[in-house]
Amino acid sequence: MKKAPQPTWGGRFAAGPAEAVKQFTESVSFDWRLYKHDIAGSIAHAKGLAKVGVLTKAEAAKIERGLRAIEREIESGLPAAAGLSAKGFKAGKFKWDTSLEDVHMNIEVALVRKIGKAGTKLHTARSRNDQVATDLRLWLRSEIQSAKSEIRNVQKSLVGLAEKNADVVAPGYTHLQRAQPVLVAHHFLAYVEMFDRDMQRLEDCLKRVNVCPLGSGAVAGSTLKLDRAYVAKLLGFDGVTQNSMDAVSDRDFVVEFQAVAAICGMHLSRLAEDIVLWSSTEFGFVTIADAYTTGSSLMPQKKNPDVAELTRGKTGRLYGNLVAMLTMLKGLPLTYNRDMQEDKQPLFDSADTLLASLRVMAGMLRYTRVNRAKCETAAGDPLLLATDLVDFLVKRGVPFRKAHHAVGALVAEAERSGVPLPKLAAKKYGTAAGRVFDVRRALAARRAIGAPAPMNVRAQLARWKLLLK
Ligand code: ARG
Repeated sequence: MKKAPQPTWGGRFAAGPAEAVKQFTESVSFDWRLYKHDIAGSIAHAKGLAKVGVLTKAEAAKIERGLRAIEREIESGLPAAAGLSAKGFKAGKFKWDTSLEDVHMNIEVALVRKIGKAGTKLHTARSRNDQVATDLRLWLRSEIQSAKSEIRNVQKSLVGLAEKNADVVAPGYTHLQRAQPVLVAHHFLAYVEMFDRDMQRLEDCLKRVNVCPLGSGAVAGSTLKLDRAYVAKLLGFDGVTQNSMDAVSDRDFVVEFQAVAAICGMHLSRLAEDIVLWSSTEFGFVTIADAYTTGSSLMPQKKNPDVAELTRGKTGRLYGNLVAMLTMLKGLPLTYNRDMQEDKQPLFDSADTLLASLRVMAGMLRYTRVNRAKCETAAGDPLLLATDLVDFLVKRGVPFRKAHHAVGALVAEAERSGVPLPKLAAKKYGTAAGRVFDVRRALAARRAIGAPAPMNVRAQLARWKLLLK
């Protein structure tokens, strides 16, 4: 076998790894996306070493200048459109080298090349094990901030849609059968509630993401003096991890984020399904703007809700990524194992997928129109108020089960005879019973907390507008 050049860790090796091994083990082709956080972590680490006298102030300053220059190089020529997605790997001016394994070694080697001896001191009292955990936490912290603002945008679109159609009545469904009338705004606000729980879950997850593992070393910290709290503070962490072994092997925060992303994806998928159904000719409750639909290559009349369908479909990836991560971590002995390098692609994909789905959903909803006539015709079916007739009888002292049975029989009679239910009700129970079938009156009567009386829905709209300001 031909001898390959030695990697950074090559001191104890007679030969470098085989080509196939290099390809198999490299991660820079995807973890380069951590560069900004890797550099921030290294600058803080160097400052920390200088603070306790392991490096001189001048060395730390030189390291910082070198790293900033490398950061600029990485970013120059990086097209904004490619962003930090997988597409950017070969797009920028900085030449990533897969034979240097990962983002950490690429940047360290570039630094030594740039500033010489001081650069070789950067990795003092640090391992890639605590380094990669730090990078990942910093990266995820910023993705969580983006996800939070995208969720808010979706909520704003939903509230906008609810507000524009505040008095439109539509059927509420159970079992996908028309059940009882609601305001269409109430339906949209149900999703605002779901996304708010996702916000809360993200905020909670962030508490465990924002803890600094740097200083834990490979597994057992360092014999050199460190000021971990100082470094953590420089990086904006809320605190430091308390057990070096846990710190280098913990990826719970990744699993948690992926679980939140999966739940949020499930919400997006349910919303997408409602949009697909509602935009069909059969329902016709909403019209999606042309810009958010696509045509058919064969059938000229088609306008397809592909954006909603893809959103629904992508949820599968979010679930898959969560399960991939849980499976990868299952049964790993303490502490760091190389298996853990497999955390990145599913994490990156979950964040990318979630952000893209939220973004496009916010845009699509902003330009979706509600068709009042279609909604109200569907909600105008008097059978939707059969329960209200039961309540009417209950108010007159008829026990609920008996009233339910009587109205059931009346519904059957209406079906058999073709005489509308309100007419039969008026004949049997007096004109007051006929008035039960006034849909606006029926809605106004639903006043308990959480029910869709227009005054409740207006109050909820006001509450959300204030919260989302
Ligand atoms: N690229 C590695 C990862 O992502 C960095 C940590 C490597 N540590 C090691 N001891 N080989 O997990």
